[in-house]
Amino acid sequence: AENQAVISVDTDNTTFTINKNIYGQFTEHLGRGIYEGIWVGEDSDIPNTRGYRNDVINALKNLPVPVVRWPGGCFADEYHWRDGIGNRASRPTRVNSNWGGVEESNQFGTHEFFEFAEMIGAETYLNVNLGTGTAKEMAQWLEYMTATNNSSLAQERRANGRHKPFKIDYLTIGNEAWGCGGNMTPEYYADLYNQYATFAKTYSGKPPVFVASGGTGDDTKWTEVLSQNKRAKMDAISFHYYTLPTNDWNKKGKAIYFPQSEWDSTMVNTLKIEKFIRDNLKVLDTHDPEGNIGFYVDEWGTWYDVEPEHNPGFLYQQNTIRDAVVAAANLNIFHQYAERVQMTNIAQMVNVLQAMILTDKEKMILTPTYHTFKMYAPFQDAQFIPLEIDTMDYESSGDDSYPAVSVSAAKAKDGYIYLSLVNLSSKNLADVKLKLTNKVFTRAEGELLTSEKMNSFNSFSQPERVKPEKVGYAIKRGRLSVALPQHSVLVVKLR
Ligand code: AHR
Repeated sequence: AENQAVISVDTDNTTFTINKNIYGQFTEHLGRGIYEGIWVGEDSDIPNTRGYRNDVINALKNLPVPVVRWPGGCFADEYHWRDGIGNRASRPTRVNSNWGGVEESNQFGTHEFFEFAEMIGAETYLNVNLGTGTAKEMAQWLEYMTATNNSSLAQERRANGRHKPFKIDYLTIGNEAWGCGGNMTPEYYADLYNQYATFAKTYSGKPPVFVASGGTGDDTKWTEVLSQNKRAKMDAISFHYYTLPTNDWNKKGKAIYFPQSEWDSTMVNTLKIEKFIRDNLKVLDTHDPEGNIGFYVDEWGTWYDVEPEHNPGFLYQQNTIRDAVVAAANLNIFHQYAERVQMTNIAQMVNVLQAMILTDKEKMILTPTYHTFKMYAPFQDAQFIPLEIDTMDYESSGDDSYPAVSVSAAKAKDGYIYLSLVNLSSKNLADVKLKLTNKVFTRAEGELLTSEKMNSFNSFSQPERVKPEKVGYAIKRGRLSVALPQHSVLVVKLR
């Protein structure tokens, strides 16, 4: 069977910028996300530079990663910065109460995070502790990181090996205050946010962008309350949404060996984010018509049952072509709303949830999601081009259906027009016809990511089962026609 989609693009019609931070990442002290995934320590047999594993650093540099959020997540609200500075041998061991109750060695702390961000060329997004911290603890951390005078905290930073201040680009206060961050009401959190934001002073560089921690799912109350109670600096409100194949947190569905019905429900559920974004943007348009407050989706991605034989608290899951398709479909949605959606952070970078990279001791693999992000790199800071699409709905087995094809177009910084086309169907080829007006093109060239099965994945023994291949198509009289294989992601450059 075949699905049809007809798309028309006025290639001259460039509009707003797709902020590169839509390609942001998130890394938390959770499972093997940081320890083993990024940090192995200087004495490790795994090839490393000052403790950071070389393979992972290189893979991340190649994406590239515009911004990285740290140290959590739920972990952030129990993180005390003093535990993670100074001589590594004398740092205290704590319990990671959120994620498996394992030991937190604090070997990766403030200095290590900023050095990591510098190594991969990413901006920094710091999540400070509201849940179990104090405004004083936060203020002192900020002084430690940014002061340039001879304050004792600045001296302490220097004594710990860092002369220059650290550069904090983005800052958020608390995380999921409605849940693990303290089970608060939005009104209570809004007051605390204003209090903390008032004292969140930095002493060098540009002041960070301030983010209030917002809601999740179909609830717009957090955006509503926060945007109406902005009394201190608030440049953005965040939002989290995870895609589960089932809607059951106790049995989310498997990462690899899932039934057809869960391919379909994953697509239906992931696309719900568009309505959630729209509903929140409507609230912001009412309370902030000038558009001063951004909307940051600072956690998103698939969340499946943990792989068998892994610590249930470590959220380690495999990644198939389904994840690559989910990532591409979400990125296409983010592009559309990029005027306000100026940052998103997929959860999470390495070894946790919908990861870019998986490691098994000295081995590393790039996931299908990594390939989507890499193929989409030209969209970072590109100019969005709106388009018209008429696509068949692919009937899902339940009551819901979802569109067969998702598409996005933009003019990249290199001056070329790029198109991304995603076939969301696991079964049917999509016959896509594009009409390109206002410029003459002769070829579309790029990469296609697809695989034999709807659950093909990269394993440590077969690390390259799912990887992009080079493709090219002729464009004749402004018509480009593509037979998009089932479960595929295509990114092409128009020449
Ligand atoms: O990404 C894993 C967890 O999901 C984060 O710690 C938390 O913010 C969210 O519930």
